[in-house]
Amino acid sequence: MDYLEIIGGKKLSGSVTISGAKNAALPIIAATILSDKPLKLTNLPNVVDIRTLLKLLTMLGGYVKHHETTAEIDNSTINSTKAVYEIVSQMRASILVLGPLLARFGECEVSLPGGCAIGQRPIDLHLKALEAMGAHIEIKGGYVRAEAKNGLRGAKIIFDKITVGGTENIVMAAALAHGTTTIINAAKEPEVVQLCEMIASAGVNIQGIGTNELTIEGTGGKTLAFDTIEIIPDRIEAGTYLCAGAITQSTITLNKVNHEHIRASIDKLESMGCTFELADDSITIHPSDTLNPVNLITIEYPGFPTDMQAQFMALAVMANGESLIEERLFENRFMHVSELNRLGADIWLKGSTAAVKGVDKLYGADVMATDLRASSALVLAALVAEGTTHVRRIYHLDRGYDNLEGKLAALGANIVRKKERH
Ligand code: UD1
Repeated sequence: MDYLEIIGGKKLSGSVTISGAKNAALPIIAATILSDKPLKLTNLPNVVDIRTLLKLLTMLGGYVKHHETTAEIDNSTINSTKAVYEIVSQMRASILVLGPLLARFGECEVSLPGGCAIGQRPIDLHLKALEAMGAHIEIKGGYVRAEAKNGLRGAKIIFDKITVGGTENIVMAAALAHGTTTIINAAKEPEVVQLCEMIASAGVNIQGIGTNELTIEGTGGKTLAFDTIEIIPDRIEAGTYLCAGAITQSTITLNKVNHEHIRASIDKLESMGCTFELADDSITIHPSDTLNPVNLITIEYPGFPTDMQAQFMALAVMANGESLIEERLFENRFMHVSELNRLGADIWLKGSTAAVKGVDKLYGADVMATDLRASSALVLAALVAEGTTHVRRIYHLDRGYDNLEGKLAALGANIVRKKERH
């Protein structure tokens, strides 16, 4: 198993190019199931989660030619509608094939994803919405078996909670349904917007893109044809590099970013004392000599993203005062707290709120990555810790960060990937 060795204390400089967004690419790959024509995806991030979902497509019988950031896909040959446990258990987002498989083939079986480190993460809202669209759903042997032999019907869906994956699944299902679907309390994250734009570009009438109410006129079973789709920049990767600049007190430039998508992170970093220069699709962070403490609550877009909570906690550890961080979306997304404390942080946890007392110094130690974003928080802390930090279990990082150690090393960080001896 690989681990990262980081020797803290180096300033960063120069520029880094942000990759395509994993969380945009995953639903887009799933949505290719709605088509039986060849198509091309570009600007894919080179990360494990993308390879996992592309592998699932090939297991369903689709044709995939994947090279680094590009994939040519032809799903005309799909001859299975079963998404097996071996894949779904590796990555929860594989549940995104449920809507498109059911919409195109009238039946499918998708393994239940189960819980994960950051909380229970149920899919009840996805299933309830598909049932409202006429699907018959049964859970048996660890699989969701869904059937809609005469196709799905448009329906009015009111989500009890805003769900990104649930909205994406239902948008895809509604695209091929008979009649009109309205989704109330829809997610409006940029990744949901890109999925809607992709489907609309194939001729499906979607109203309300980027709002909490979507109306989708289904094609009544007719498959779609997509042009080449370029994945939007990864706002979480961008936010993470801004935090790297802030924590190491370095001026760095990020290329290929969408400023609007990272507004919440920019605002919080400004309140902590950093300043920014924005150009067309790049941004330069000018750090502050001392970081002010920060108060934040994770919430749906355009609010502060839960996927940036751990990285900002690493920053708060180095701030001059006490910060309060409240996690509202996932009940167990604080596993990085004990690991940050191992590096010398002073974080006290009560329920869904963390009180972070800034410290003068962190000290390198052995720490364990527990989930994707928690892992990047440990890397950020290690960049300023005195001495050597080993971040273990970095397969979490490899799921979602494209070449993290390569990009940080190019900025001047002292970071190398090593292999455990046993
Ligand atoms: C997506 C992102 C993830 C991000 C999250 C919130 C992808 C691949 N992943 O995850 O990085 O952290 O959005 O921005 O895009 N819920 C239910 N029932 C459901 C579905 C969700 O109760 O059927 C709850 C969840 O447990 C959670 C909340 O709703 O508390 C939001 O989850 P959701 O938006 O669905 O997250 P994901 O789509 O899984």
